Amino acid sequence: SERDSLYIVMNYAKEHYKERLLHSDEGTSIGLSYFRERGFNDRTVEKFELGYSINAWDDFNKKALREGYREEMLDKAGLIIKRDDGRFYDRFRGRVIFPVHNLAGKVIAFGARILTKEKDQPKYINSPETEIYHKSQVLYGMFQAKNAIRREDNCYLVEGYTDVISMHLADVDNVVASSGTALTEDQIKLIRRFTENVTVLFDGDAAGIKAALRGIDLVLKGGLNVRVLLFPDGDDPDSFSRKMGSTAFKQYLKDHTTDFISFKIDLHAKDAGHDPIKKAEAIRDIVTSISLIPDPIKRSVYIQETSQLLRMPENVLLTEMNKIVIGDK
Ligand code: UTP
Ligand code: MN
Ligand code: MN
Ligand code: MN
Ligand code: MN
Repeated sequence: SERDSLYIVMNYAKEHYKERLLHSDEGTSIGLSYFRERGFNDRTVEKFELGYSINAWDDFNKKALREGYREEMLDKAGLIIKRDDGRFYDRFRGRVIFPVHNLAGKVIAFGARILTKEKDQPKYINSPETEIYHKSQVLYGMFQAKNAIRREDNCYLVEGYTDVISMHLADVDNVVASSGTALTEDQIKLIRRFTENVTVLFDGDAAGIKAALRGIDLVLKGGLNVRVLLFPDGDDPDSFSRKMGSTAFKQYLKDHTTDFISFKIDLHAKDAGHDPIKKAEAIRDIVTSISLIPDPIKRSVYIQETSQLLRMPENVLLTEMNKIVIGDK
């Protein structure tokens, strides 16, 4: 079937990029040394099947055609792109390659990172949607993480490919990435197959905070428990774990993970101070998040906690929440 052909083509491409990374002059001198600089060792390169795409128009396309693959199929797989003159060129060129695996370990997409700082080029290029790749249903690293997620009964959620890989290097394997896009309900359902506990670890910048807040609400709505940790401004899990080293990083995760209520209170406290209007906004925001939780018992536990932390009568919060919950229906 077409799906089977796509799996075969994607596997072939993965092997091609691996081969180029490990056995071509350009791949070893540019790609492999880039990974080395980022601290990725051989084991990691193998575990995530990392690769390299040669900086030429058709290094991949030419080889694939020579070996009998049909251009139509390479196109459907998103590996090549049609030019104005009707000819095809490789989608990924002069980039390091991060294969995206499905739960069975088959490659269904690629992310490709540029190595230089070119202003007019995106940092990452990703595979388009195909018959076997529905971005909104996939989390990067799930194949490599699923056993650890079950074992630890917790799933760390990060933003990027390199965050996942660096956390494995720091010996934290229960981690997946949303790959820079807004989290979806299907992705939450995917996590729920392995655990009911999610810890959101987002980049310590404005975009990271925004993504974390949105992530929290979606996870709550999906009926999962959510905890949060925000890194210092400018750091992401990758940079921070490498700075700290495995032992200190794991300790940091332990010490700085908070439940989402405290996280939101801290965040609001930073700009609310003693302003009563802002305090009211903060309370409403927290109660709104709590109202998303499907389980009424959990909702009342969180209301209780909020009441204590904010010194607000519980019945006031309950009344506010019930307005929202009932208003929803
Ligand atoms: P970041 O900009 O935080 O990149 O985007 P990163 O993962 O920290 O990468 P490094 O450390 O600079 O190499 C987070 C994620 O968003 C997606 C990628 O999945 C990336 O890992 N992204 C980012 C894109 O798809 N395209 C882009 O141009 C940028
Ligand atoms: Mn489909
Ligand atoms: Mn970021
Ligand atoms: Mn990042
Ligand atoms: Mn990074």
